Amino acid sequence: MDIKDIILLLHPAIAVLVVFPMIGIVVHRAWQTRQRRLETAKGGKSKIPPIVGSEHVQIGRWLTGFVVGITLLALAYATFKKILTDGVWTTAPFQVILIVFMYVATIISLVFLYQAREKHWRGIFATLTGMGVVILGFQDGVYRRDNEWFVSHFYYGIVATLLMIFSLAIVQNIYQDRSLRWRNVHIILNCIALLLFIGQGMTGVRDLLEIPLSWQEEYLYKCDYEKKTCANIYPSPSSEIPSVNRDSFLVTSNRH
Ligand code: HEM
Ligand code: HEM
Repeated sequence: MDIKDIILLLHPAIAVLVVFPMIGIVVHRAWQTRQRRLETAKGGKSKIPPIVGSEHVQIGRWLTGFVVGITLLALAYATFKKILTDGVWTTAPFQVILIVFMYVATIISLVFLYQAREKHWRGIFATLTGMGVVILGFQDGVYRRDNEWFVSHFYYGIVATLLMIFSLAIVQNIYQDRSLRWRNVHIILNCIALLLFIGQGMTGVRDLLEIPLSWQEEYLYKCDYEKKTCANIYPSPSSEIPSVNRDSFLVTSNRH
């Protein structure tokens, strides 16, 4: 594998090895937190230890950071790949500087969101982080699958990321609100986030199947992805196989 392919694999590898196990823990602790709250609200005792709530939040805070991180990583890969192939640095260097600045500003906004205590600062930094993610998502080179937005890894991913940023921003509201309004908003939005994460698992592996290794790009990007045919590849890969081996190649490839 070329270095390009290894860098492409960083995003899915971190998602599978770190983010999804973390989602499992966060959701399990969320379930326990809810069970415990409902059991004790009735005046009864719960066997679930009180620590589960703070464990949910602690790991939830890490989850937000990792989800924003892998989203920025995937967007940066796609954007800078395009910048390097099109030589944008020579034609529009200012645009490249602006994009780099946006990545730095988004990361700094997230760091400040982690530190912010007052309501208005949490609102401001959450908005800035979210805006950064959306603006960077709409740069050239990012594959958004606009015509099939309802099964798009990009749109699911951006919405899930925004929901994680929102969860981080409202932690204190959840604790301070005795009417449970913020708590219920959090539960509804994050059940949607959970469905989106499941969608990310499915659309992500589909996208991995569709993206060729860099040495295969030259041929595979000539295929017609709409009509699902590679008949227009010219010269066809099999035409380059010496005629002696050609028949055996065709027989073997027909088996797949
Ligand atoms: C897939 C992700 C998540 C799901 C499904 C989820 C769901 C839940 C549920 C069901 C509860 C219990 C509500 C109740 O008491 O009835 C809860 C509590 C809470 N969640 Fe989440 N959550 C998620 C992620 C996050 C994240 C990322 C954060 C913050 C960064 C967060 C912050 C909180 C807080 C502060 C509470 C209150 C905990 C307590 O009572 O001690 N959650 N969440
Ligand atoms: C928390 C879960 C995940 C989030 C939030 C997420 C988010 C994103 C975003 C925003 C993009 C950029 C848009 C695009 O190029 O399509 C992307 C790209 C991609 N993701 Fe994910 N993703 C997640 C999990 C996964 C998983 C589990 C896999 C595969 C096992 C995966 C594979 C990919 C691939 C192959 C790309 C394309 C890279 C490229 O060509 O630019 N993702 N992801």
